[in-house]
Amino acid sequence: MTTKIILDVDTGTDDAVALMVAALSPDIELIGATTVNGNTAVHFCTENTLRVFDWIGLPDIPVHQGMSRPLARAQMTQINPASRIHGDLLDLPEARTATLQPGHGVDWLIDTYLASDGDITLVPVGPLTNIATAIQKEPAILEKIPEIVIMGGAHDHGNSTASAEFNIWLDPEAARIVVNCGRPIRMVPLDATHRALVSLDDCRALRALGTPAGEAAARFIEKRIDGYDSTQPMHRAGAAPVHDALAVCAVIDPTVITTHFIPVDVETGGELSIGRTVCDFRFRSGRPANVQFAMDADEPMFVRMLTEILGRTA
Ligand code: BDR
Ligand code: CA
Repeated sequence: MTTKIILDVDTGTDDAVALMVAALSPDIELIGATTVNGNTAVHFCTENTLRVFDWIGLPDIPVHQGMSRPLARAQMTQINPASRIHGDLLDLPEARTATLQPGHGVDWLIDTYLASDGDITLVPVGPLTNIATAIQKEPAILEKIPEIVIMGGAHDHGNSTASAEFNIWLDPEAARIVVNCGRPIRMVPLDATHRALVSLDDCRALRALGTPAGEAAARFIEKRIDGYDSTQPMHRAGAAPVHDALAVCAVIDPTVITTHFIPVDVETGGELSIGRTVCDFRFRSGRPANVQFAMDADEPMFVRMLTEILGRTA
């Protein structure tokens, strides 16, 4: 049985791999993508998303552009340390056939959920601005969302700051609304994505698949490895996380991550810890668990899934 999903993206290099996995997996029906300010300005994220769908021969998947800045904070994209890992425009030909759909992404999310049978999993892999705005504008969508699978958060260490992960840090107020929305939530944080690295050897195998998706994924992940090796080295050189793709793989097969059902909230008021996902592993807060928070991932399984799915063509 396939799982219907909507992917909310700020398309840089790992979002691009996530989009290709979602679009090509036989286990997923990708209803559409919404774009949000994040890795770069939203119009670049939109163009990048269209480029990806054109490149893999699926230009008809609807793409809707969403929010261009965080809910309450000044635009902070320009100090994203990840810029070397993404850049503004993906190294793919300009989109020609895939076109941006009319209407705002937030309105499309609301209309699509209200009209649905409550069977579309929401998969945000960028800052949570679109999702929080949709919830605020039309809370009735909540009962139509069966699960939200988020790439974001960090318990052990952050990447934007010592304690905050980029997607949550860029729009902490939005993240706080979403993690407290009352629907089932799975979070795929850095604690999991940093345990599932993709190596230069894996990139060679992806390129050898000879498919557009395999070739593009190899190119993007090699760029990521170069950026990680020079700016945020992982526990081994020549390998990098592909965060957003792990979240999509967790939708396809939940056993690729290991989760703990715990109370999680987002720091919005601290001086040093803005955007921290506060994980209450010992239930000190007296609050009920609200998030399945992933602390580990199966690297060989993740790489196997990428290789199988990206070997497919439209
Ligand atoms: C997240 O931040 C972005 O740079 C990536 O696309 C990913 O969604 C990782 O912290
Ligand atoms: Ca992302």
